[in-house]
Amino acid sequence: MARSAIVNVMANAALKAARGLLRDFGEVEQLQVSVKGPGDFVSTADLKAERTLKAELMRARPGYGLLFEEGGAATGTDQRHRWIVDPLDGTTNFLHGIPHWAISIGLERDGEIVAGVIYEPTRDEMFWAEKGAGAYVNDRRLRVSARRQLAEAVIGTGMPFGDRLADRGGQPMYMDTLRAVMAATSGVRRLGSAALDLAYVAAGRYDGFWEFRLMPWDIAAGLLIVREAGGYVTDMAGGHDMMTSGDVLAANAHLHLPLAALIREALRARRAAG
Ligand code: IPD
Ligand code: CA
Ligand code: CA
Repeated sequence: MARSAIVNVMANAALKAARGLLRDFGEVEQLQVSVKGPGDFVSTADLKAERTLKAELMRARPGYGLLFEEGGAATGTDQRHRWIVDPLDGTTNFLHGIPHWAISIGLERDGEIVAGVIYEPTRDEMFWAEKGAGAYVNDRRLRVSARRQLAEAVIGTGMPFGDRLADRGGQPMYMDTLRAVMAATSGVRRLGSAALDLAYVAAGRYDGFWEFRLMPWDIAAGLLIVREAGGYVTDMAGGHDMMTSGDVLAANAHLHLPLAALIREALRARRAAG
């Protein structure tokens, strides 16, 4: 499947930003042993990647609005279109020299995501999708997994952490869902990049994924990539409010309902217990 002009713009912007990030990732490994650590260096790498992406996307489509993780929102002259971008998803991995992080670019038209690119530079995997045209990794078509039994499923998740614990759904509530999924499946993974988690559901590597309180730039591209690969994505209540609530539950068509029921029951039991 040939990529459309707009997907090419997105993929090329990601490739350009990735070159800088890869160079910086090499440096991070050296900085690991320094007293100050790589913290400030990584923030700068993140901002540099965002600047590159902004410049590339604005050059190709000057009027589009923007929602960037670091630089915030800007309305464009074209009110219909908006880029939703995370220049570096998986910052903690990047900071620790763990090669699992990505650039995520979503394109919204009239409030709906119509194109998405998630690029993972260390494996050179370009996940992309366009509404109605399917989902791909590089040139290969993506399909969600065909597993039908939760007991055989591997499910990805994101755990709340640090000072985000309180505003990320609360730890006890999350732990209840984690316990339920651990008991019912053949394994849970926390790889540290929500964008790649969704790409992995699309690729059939994970059979499902859930996380609370994500941000629009974490998920914009991934939601479309999962759907175009034949998967289902909803919020925890089964609705489609993911971009505002940040709650995401993705899975193949067979497992979405059982996984949703499991998570909802865990949440209900917590509420009932007060
Ligand atoms: C984070 C990652 C992580 C998720 C966090 C996100 P960042 O994004 O996607 O997997 O659990 O909620 O904030 O900070 O690395 O861009
Ligand atoms: Ca992110
Ligand atoms: Ca980020």
